[in-house]
Amino acid sequence: MKYHIITFGCQMNEADSSLMAALLEAAGWEACARRDEADLVVVNTCSVREKPEHKVDSLLGELRKGRDEHAGRLVAVTGCMAQREGEELARRGRGVDIVLGTRSFHHLAEAVERARGGERPVVMLGMEEDPSPARCAMTPGKSVLKAFVPIILGCTNFCSYCIVPYVRGGEKSRPAEEIRGEVESLVSRGAREVTLLGQNVLAYGRDLDSGGAFADLLGDLSEVEGLWRIRYTTCHPRDVRRELIEVMRDQPQVCEHIHLPIQAGTDKLLGEMNRGYTVEQYRRVVDELRAGVPGMAITTDMMVGFPGETADDFESSLRLYETIRFDAAFMFAYSPRPGTKAAQREDQVPRNVRLERLHRLIEVQNRITVERNREEIGNVVEVLVEGPAEKGEGLLVGRGSNNKLVVFRGSGELAGRLGSVRLTEAHLWGFRGEALQA
Ligand code: SAH
Ligand code: SF4
Ligand code: F3S
Repeated sequence: MKYHIITFGCQMNEADSSLMAALLEAAGWEACARRDEADLVVVNTCSVREKPEHKVDSLLGELRKGRDEHAGRLVAVTGCMAQREGEELARRGRGVDIVLGTRSFHHLAEAVERARGGERPVVMLGMEEDPSPARCAMTPGKSVLKAFVPIILGCTNFCSYCIVPYVRGGEKSRPAEEIRGEVESLVSRGAREVTLLGQNVLAYGRDLDSGGAFADLLGDLSEVEGLWRIRYTTCHPRDVRRELIEVMRDQPQVCEHIHLPIQAGTDKLLGEMNRGYTVEQYRRVVDELRAGVPGMAITTDMMVGFPGETADDFESSLRLYETIRFDAAFMFAYSPRPGTKAAQREDQVPRNVRLERLHRLIEVQNRITVERNREEIGNVVEVLVEGPAEKGEGLLVGRGSNNKLVVFRGSGELAGRLGSVRLTEAHLWGFRGEALQA
């Protein structure tokens, strides 16, 4: 029996998809690259904006059309849209057999058995469970150089535009020993870099009796033998503490990069978004980070067209971004999400205005990204070599500690190793460089 998983959305979803793959494999299923050859298609969905939801709708439409040629094929929908729409997804004659929510997806193999036994649809949406222990029980899968490790589930910030707290539930930290155990097991299978995941990793430990803090977890994981690099994402600007900056400075394994979503650049917008910081406070955090860890990369998320955003607000945000000079940014046009506070406002910004502002923003930030990269030309950086570059014979791709991509010429044997590279050309996507002899 063959399965095929299609993943939308964030790294958390990617991590969940790899857990589902491992659990299916433990139950005797085999991965297949083409969805028309699969006996089970899993669609792991995202609700953060309209667009990924529309993509899922059309994908489900296609799968439904192909149903006659694939009698007996099962379709499972998991992830944030599954949690949001629940039974509706299966009821609408949409050709969906299984719906599993964001804290129930680890029951996939069991749900598939039930569906094959004739139960349709199988719907599990409970939020009481924590799928993480299943992660530890995972049979050693294929070896990976880099792995994602969720450390805190859910979110309780309720930013006024955001669907995530509704579909991912409240904050729930995994015990530190469980995380360490999983990291050690990944390392024993060849992983050299882990990325710790959470909607706000800096909230890690707040809900635990042991009261563990995120900086302590980083310190603890730095001791894992054979682990070269530790990354984490994403961080709420309100929760950056001195201890975090110190551990980044003192532990060479902790990478020199922070993803620190700003969202907007005026106190009015930040307040209405319920972000919990002002422009001044955000700037101060950036200053402290850059002073504490010189050369570190700071990346961000920016949103334009939040309800009530005037042309002046937008210009003020642009001016702020010009002074902060982020290394890179994910940029989005606001998308109203059902049930959120911002979606109920009457002063929605027209779609064409939102898109115009997004284009302007992208132009400005892309220029800044290239300019910042240019400042690094001539630097020698240590990269973790990931393998052959997508394009170009004999070219390899690696990443610096600051997470920036470097493409350079070198032998395939370097894959999976650390190497020194001199940066020679700056681009929007990263650098061209030349490998140095060790
Ligand atoms: N927990 C993360 C964000 C997860 S969602 C954090 O707080 O940083 C990733 C990004 O999607 C957000 O940072 C935001 O920029 C964007 N986003 C969230 N809701 C959105 C919406 N309704 N419309 C447009 N973009 C949105
Ligand atoms: Fe959404 Fe805000 Fe939570 Fe991030 S911190 S997931 S933007 S509610
Ligand atoms: Fe999307 Fe859910 Fe991640 S809404 S961004 S898949 S947490």
